[in-house]
Amino acid sequence: MINHHLSDGILKILLNRPEKKNAFANAMYSELTQILSDGDQNPEVKVMLISGAGNAFSAGNDIADFMQSPITHKDAPPINLLKVLAGLTKPLIAAVDGVAVGIGATLLFHCDLVYAQKDARFIFPFVSLGLVPEGAISLLLPRLVGHQRASEILLFGEPMSADDAQQIGFANKVITEPSALPYAELQAQKLTSLSFGSVLRTKSLLKDGALKTAVLNQIDIEGKLFIDRLHSPAAKEALTAFLEKRAPNFDGLD
Ligand code: COA
Repeated sequence: MINHHLSDGILKILLNRPEKKNAFANAMYSELTQILSDGDQNPEVKVMLISGAGNAFSAGNDIADFMQSPITHKDAPPINLLKVLAGLTKPLIAAVDGVAVGIGATLLFHCDLVYAQKDARFIFPFVSLGLVPEGAISLLLPRLVGHQRASEILLFGEPMSADDAQQIGFANKVITEPSALPYAELQAQKLTSLSFGSVLRTKSLLKDGALKTAVLNQIDIEGKLFIDRLHSPAAKEALTAFLEKRAPNFDGLD
């Protein structure tokens, strides 16, 4: 469900489950973690580029999997993936067409460059699913936009447009072509022509140190709460409602 291909220093990664808007089935977490870790170690890789098949980036965690095999421990594959993303030493570029939801949106906070097709929509539906944010976005989003705007985005979970994502500094550029991928590929090529040593050290200056420690710590704190909430009556109602294609009813549910 995830393809990858190395060419001219660029490791291209494709989330490839278009019939489910590239929602993460359980196996995809370990698969992507392995691809990213191997890419980060491989001396032939200078930059990694992630995109989604069809007209979506990713619809986030597979909701049926959330119900059937909810994560139960802090080293579960989704949490491990987020930590590996936060620790990458090589640049990761994202090309976003269509929806980026849940972990499909939070993983973008760990990319170095994000290019969004003009119809892309970013959705953080954690509270509307009875859950809490993950991937350290409860730390990184307020750092980007301030407390009040972060509260609005995370509490209401309403779709954010590509223009808004660019305006808050989350997306680098809005692409008006049918797909953001060709432009992202050009930017990846541009990176490979720069001094690799300088690129790596610049990413390290931007990401390492106290911030990385805080990010990894926040992923753990959020992960514990996320697991608790996943087993809550409110989350069960919201996830069931999605599968039954109806609105959730949180009356009397914590
Ligand atoms: N898990 C499981 N299946 C999903 C999914 C998910 N996260 N997201 C989409 N799908 C499935 C849909 O059920 C549908 O399947 P079907 O054709 O068998 O009915 C198919 O993918 C296409 O999705 P659809 O809802 O028809 O597309 P859309 O363009 O109208 O809406 C989304 C796209 C992503 C906005 C919508 O599907 C959605 O809200 N998905 C849930 C996202 C979510 O809450 N993820 C978890 C975050 S923690």
